[in-house]
Amino acid sequence: IHNVIFHSSQEASVLVAQEIANIIQRKEELNEPCVLGLATGSSPIKVYEELVRMHKEDGLNFTNVVTFNLDEYYPMDKDNIQSYYQFMHEHLFNHVNILPENINIPDGKVSSEDLHQYCIDYEMKIKYLGGLDFQLLGIGRTGHIGFNEPGSHINSGTRSITLDHLTRVDAASSFLGIDNVPRKAITMGIGTVRNAKRIVLLGWGISKAGIIKKTIEGEISSRVPATYLQEHSNTTFVLDTEASSELT
Ligand code: F6R
Repeated sequence: IHNVIFHSSQEASVLVAQEIANIIQRKEELNEPCVLGLATGSSPIKVYEELVRMHKEDGLNFTNVVTFNLDEYYPMDKDNIQSYYQFMHEHLFNHVNILPENINIPDGKVSSEDLHQYCIDYEMKIKYLGGLDFQLLGIGRTGHIGFNEPGSHINSGTRSITLDHLTRVDAASSFLGIDNVPRKAITMGIGTVRNAKRIVLLGWGISKAGIIKKTIEGEISSRVPATYLQEHSNTTFVLDTEASSELT
């Protein structure tokens, strides 16, 4: 992995958005779909802001873009303001010309009987499109990417997972209390993410400094699932000064 350190997450996010825009345009010239893996949470918000700006001001076209979101709480209704479905529409999809049928977000309302097959189908759909051209990631304080909590297997695929206590603590404020945070989620796997041709992980702020150090400098272990990115040949960690402050 390479790390790039910026003074501000704003400046960094603009460059990441530019890279995504370049891939979208290259794929458009080839007349091929551009398959993007997307994250929610606070980390990617400024990247989405910049992509929206590029669509509105520079005419960046999303009609060849197909997206797969990493995760969704389970159970979770699409209409719930805390759903990742709402998050993505609010921050990106409502403001660009992506085709609704090209948006894929794990369905937080799939029945428990259908869940297993649903996850296999999600995985197959990514494969069928030729895999992820670009995967955008944040990182949780447990070392999760997507919702691949400690213990996740390096070859894991899309599946349901039980959220770590710390992950639920970190989500508590947006759910107005930990008791309202779902206990489970559907997430793309470590294997799904590692099959992406290009991965960019965003880390901002002092609260991420410890886990960023473990991820980049620690031994590769399922205890910190993000360490599996050390073995991916085309991953960049884009950090601000604070998130990189514990690196040696
Ligand atoms: C969300 C996701 C998670 C977040 C992580 C960091 O789709 O995949 O792994 O990226 O929990 O969240 P923030 O960015 O809010 O600190």
